Amino acid sequence: MLSDRIVVLDIDRWDAPGIAHDNRAVDDLEQGKVLYFPRLAFPLDAAETALLDPALVDPKRKNISLNARTGVLTGVAVEDARRDAIGALVRRYYEATRALLARLLPGYAAHLHSPTTSLRLHRIGTWQPSWRKDDTRLHVDAFPSRPTGEQRILRVFNNINPHGDVRRWRVGEDFGGLAARYLASIPRYNPAAAWLLHKVGVTKSRRSEYDHLMLHLHDRMKADADYQREGLQQSIDFPPGSTWICFSDQAPHAAMTGQFMLEQTYLLPVDAMADPGRSPQRVLRRQMAALHG
Ligand SMILES: [Fe+2]
Repeated sequence: MLSDRIVVLDIDRWDAPGIAHDNRAVDDLEQGKVLYFPRLAFPLDAAETALLDPALVDPKRKNISLNARTGVLTGVAVEDARRDAIGALVRRYYEATRALLARLLPGYAAHLHSPTTSLRLHRIGTWQPSWRKDDTRLHVDAFPSRPTGEQRILRVFNNINPHGDVRRWRVGEDFGGLAARYLASIPRYNPAAAWLLHKVGVTKSRRSEYDHLMLHLHDRMKADADYQREGLQQSIDFPPGSTWICFSDQAPHAAMTGQFMLEQTYLLPVDAMADPGRSPQRVLRRQMAALHG
C-alpha cells in the first residue's frame, strides 16, 4: 500500500516530453516525497549485464563512482577493458538522468551541479563496516567528510538487477517531525571544532551548523532502535526496471534488500528550490530558533 509519501509517475522514457506539467514533481519532491516510476527502465545489453559482478569493485570502496564533470572513475578493481565499459555504462546513466530531469524539473535543471554517478554492485548487507554506515537503518543522507552547507542532495535510483530481485526500501516520516524528535538532544554547534576538522583535513570544507546538525540527526536515527522499529514508516519494493527519485537529505530512507543499482546524485542550491523554506536547512533553522531563541 503506497501512502502519500510515495508518488507514482507513469513515464517509460528518459526523454519523455511534456512531463513537467504544473511543477507537481517539484512540489512533491520539496515535501520530501519519493517519486516512483515503475516503468522507467534502464536496459543493459549482454556485455553490460556481464559487468554486474561485485568482484569488479575495489575492496576498499563501497561502490564504483564517476565524477561526470572531471571524468574521474573510482572504485574499479580491474585495469582491463572492463574498466572502460563500466565508465561508459555509468556515463550513459548520468546522461539519461540529465535528460529526464531537464524535462521533469525544468526549474532546477540549470542549477543542478556536482553530478556523481554510482554503480552499486554489492548485495545490501554484505558491505557495512559499522552501524553508522549501515543503510538498512532509517536515515537522512549527510556526508561526514563533504559538508553540503546550502546544497540539497537530489538522487535518482534505478534497479538494474538481472535476476528479478527487488530493492526493498523503508521510507519514513516528514522531515519536520523527524527533526523535532531529535533536535533538542543534539549538542550545540562549535565553530572552532568545525574549523579544526577542516584544518586537519577531516572535512573537505568547513562544516556549517547545518552540517553539524544533520550528521548528528543521521547518527541519532540510526542508533535509536525504538525509532527504527516503531517510527512512522512504510516498506516499498522497487522492482528491476523501475526508477525512483528523492531529496535524500530530507526523506528518511533505509535500503533493506537488493543488489545491483545505478544511482545519480546532484546537488542543488537551497535558493534554487521553488520554496527554500521547505529545505532541511530552513526547517532546522526555524526549529533551532524556537528551541534556543
Ligand atoms: Fe541514504
